[in-house]
Order: sequence, then C-alpha cells, then structure tokens
Amino acid sequence: MAQSNSTLLVNEALIDLLNQQIQNELKAAAQYMAIAVYFEHESLPALAGFFFTQADEEREHAMKFVHYLLDAGAKPVIPSIPDLRNDFSSAMDAVGCALDGELEVTRQINNLVGAATKHNDYMTHTFLQWFVTEQLEEVSTMSTLLDTIKHAGDQLLLVEDLVRRGEIGHDHETA
Ligand code: FEO
Repeated sequence: MAQSNSTLLVNEALIDLLNQQIQNELKAAAQYMAIAVYFEHESLPALAGFFFTQADEEREHAMKFVHYLLDAGAKPVIPSIPDLRNDFSSAMDAVGCALDGELEVTRQINNLVGAATKHNDYMTHTFLQWFVTEQLEEVSTMSTLLDTIKHAGDQLLLVEDLVRRGEIGHDHETA
C-alpha cells in the first residue's frame, strides 16, 4: 500500500473531492448512529440494529476513500463531522432523513464520477463504480423501508418483524 506521494496516481483536481467524500461518508455513519439511537429509545430494537449496521457500513465506505487516496499516493485528510440531526418526531421522520441522506450521497458520487470523467482519471472512475452500484441498493432499501413504515402506520411492530426476518435491508459485501 503506497503511503507517500512520490507517485501520485490520482488526478490532483480530484483530491479535494475525494477527501470531501470521506467527510460525507463519516457524516452518513454518524447520522445513522443517531437514527439507531432514536429507534433504540423508542424500544424498536430491530430498526435500531438495522441502522447501527448501516452506520458500520458507512464507516467502511469512508475507509475505502481513505485507503484509495493512500494507495494512489495522495494524503487523506480526516475531517470533523458537521452538524447532525439527533431529534426525530416519528419513525417516518427518521427514515425520511436517512433516505434524504442517501439521495444526497448519490448526487455526491455522481459528481465525483463526472469529475473523474472530465479529468480522464480512469483509475478513480473505476474505483467509484462500486459506489454507484451501492447507492442504487441503498436508495432502494431506504425507499422500501420508508414505504413500509407509511403502510404500517401505528403498527411499527410489523416493521420490526419484517426487519428482523431480513425482509427489508440488504445482504451484500460491506468491505
Ligand atoms: Fe455510503 Fe450510503 O452512502
């Protein structure tokens, strides 16, 4: 694994954007942790567990960017995390926040792919393809979960049961 910038493989114009994505992914991890805490507090442990797992996955996403920058001979900058939401009025509000976050990350990944294309950085373009596929899965999962919560109304234990049985959520590689 390269740790010096003697051989810079990533286009310099992309380094700030790739560093920004470390912050975006860590923010997603922290936001999911806050959503998990909300569900734990509401005595909905399956939904809490689902979001704690999502938080772990987002941290792994951040680590992919850290290691990519190191491997490409650039220096990752580990960011502080901007303000998060810690208060939610309902399950729908909390999962709506999660879906909004995934849509935002999808825009960020698309911007990165666009920048990699513009600068003919095919290595970064290839690296980003995993995230393009991941975002499709995560937006779809979060959208399904939000619809399910809407259908369930007050009967959130039905959602708990579906999540516990693995009917909602994804089962794919996280590293
Ligand atoms: Fe890593 Fe769900 O965005």
